[in-house]
Amino acid sequence: MAQKVHVKITINGKPYEADIEPRLLLVHFIREIAGLTGTHIGCDTTNCGACTIILTGKAAKSCTIFAVQANGKEVLTIEGLAKDGKLHPIQEGFWVKHGLQCGYCTPGMIMAAYQLLKRNPNPTEEEIRWGISGNLCRCTGYQNIVEAIKYAAEKMREVG
Ligand code: FES
Ligand code: FES
Repeated sequence: MAQKVHVKITINGKPYEADIEPRLLLVHFIREIAGLTGTHIGCDTTNCGACTIILTGKAAKSCTIFAVQANGKEVLTIEGLAKDGKLHPIQEGFWVKHGLQCGYCTPGMIMAAYQLLKRNPNPTEEEIRWGISGNLCRCTGYQNIVEAIKYAAEKMREVG
């Protein structure tokens, strides 16, 4: 058995420490050690984006990162978006515009949208489609997801 490594990863502002095998993927750390199961696993090929999180400010597929690579760093997951019981505008957008069916892709889509809107608060439809192009949805046909992100962009611009 590989020698264990001690890591400390801050997720949604809360530190999680554990002795882990170096091969443990970040997505497994998030789901199994931190117990935050909103981050999904939808493939084993780095294709689907269901596992998308924000690692030190950048969207990343947490199934392609070893947990040791996140040692000492900050992760934001879907569970970290709502504040004081109030949905984040992107979550609200997916709700209002019916941007989901089965919901499996939704956490990853929302985190990808979060990154997109941080970089570009007023994206065109084409930019939105490009921004979520690393995330697969098997149910919705994407149109309502795009509408949800447009809704969120508008809301976030209003708030400033
Ligand atoms: S589970 Fe990470 S990209 Fe599919
Ligand atoms: S809503 Fe089902 S995979 Fe996207």
